[in-house]
Amino acid sequence: MILEGKTILIMGIRNKWSIAWGVAVSAHENGAKVIFTHHPAEKEEKIKELISELPGAKSYSCDVSSDEEIRKCFETIKKEQGNIDGILHSIAHANTEDLRNDFIFTSREGFSHANDVSAYSLVAITRIAKEVNMLNERASIVALTYFGAEKVVEGYNLMGVAKAALETSIKYLAKDIGKEKMRINAISAGPIKTLSAKGIKDFGTILDVVEKRAPLHENVTTKQVGDVASFLFSSLSSAVTGEIIHVDNGFSIIGV
Ligand SMILES: NC(=O)c1ccc[n+]([C@@H]2O[C@H](COP(=O)([O-])OP(=O)(O)OC[C@H]3O[C@@H](n4cnc5c(N)ncnc54)[C@H](O)[C@@H]3O)[C@@H](O)[C@H]2O)c1
Repeated sequence: MILEGKTILIMGIRNKWSIAWGVAVSAHENGAKVIFTHHPAEKEEKIKELISELPGAKSYSCDVSSDEEIRKCFETIKKEQGNIDGILHSIAHANTEDLRNDFIFTSREGFSHANDVSAYSLVAITRIAKEVNMLNERASIVALTYFGAEKVVEGYNLMGVAKAALETSIKYLAKDIGKEKMRINAISAGPIKTLSAKGIKDFGTILDVVEKRAPLHENVTTKQVGDVASFLFSSLSSAVTGEIIHVDNGFSIIGV
């Protein structure tokens, strides 16, 4: 039980296919108390029903594009649930037209929106969590990224640029919060069929290519991603910070 006695806040639950759910299940199985946040547009009843599988779990509404909302949400969580040992950032968004068109046609507004929700939100969450003093000593933050930040992936477009900003933010944040012995890392997950993934053109082809070329010749599951997140939340990874860990069945090591 590597997370016994820890409370983990999972931000970005949508449904049972969400990577956030796989992380929550793993954290729960490893002994953590798990709480959630969801976007205000998600159906509260459905989320309540899903998380009722984890005893005592509660979800709070939080739109991460507003600092004020994040602050209000974190203050409520601190008041009702006490301090937190780990936060999962499992959130991304881009306008559909910005993913469907060639990257060169990305609008100024679309670029700003995708980077705001998918990358800047991690900076805001980390800063505000510290400001409201909701993090326990040696807290660990984990975010989700994708290979499209490193290399061009057909159809990933603007989201690849936002993930690159997210990955570099992690390194700078690691330096800042390291002063207080807190850690932040990202998992670069292989492609997984989720509602967000549906926004990527020809996502099925990406899954097929991974199965064909990855050293382990299969696609990853949300639970496999969750197990690595549990490791990152636990003291087993106490010397790991500012890292991007690939959980992709080895796909990213393959050249020709
Ligand atoms: N599915 C994949 O292939 C894959 C691979 C690597 C990384 N990721 C990343 O994993 C994370 C989770 O995505 P997923 O695939 O599980 O899809 P998902 O659709 O289940 O989760 C995305 C979540 O982001 C939330 N969200 C969007 N805008 C928000 C906002 N303004 N405020 C608060 N929440 C907001 C949605 O409500 C949703 O819960 C994302 O960062 C995604 O980029 C996904």
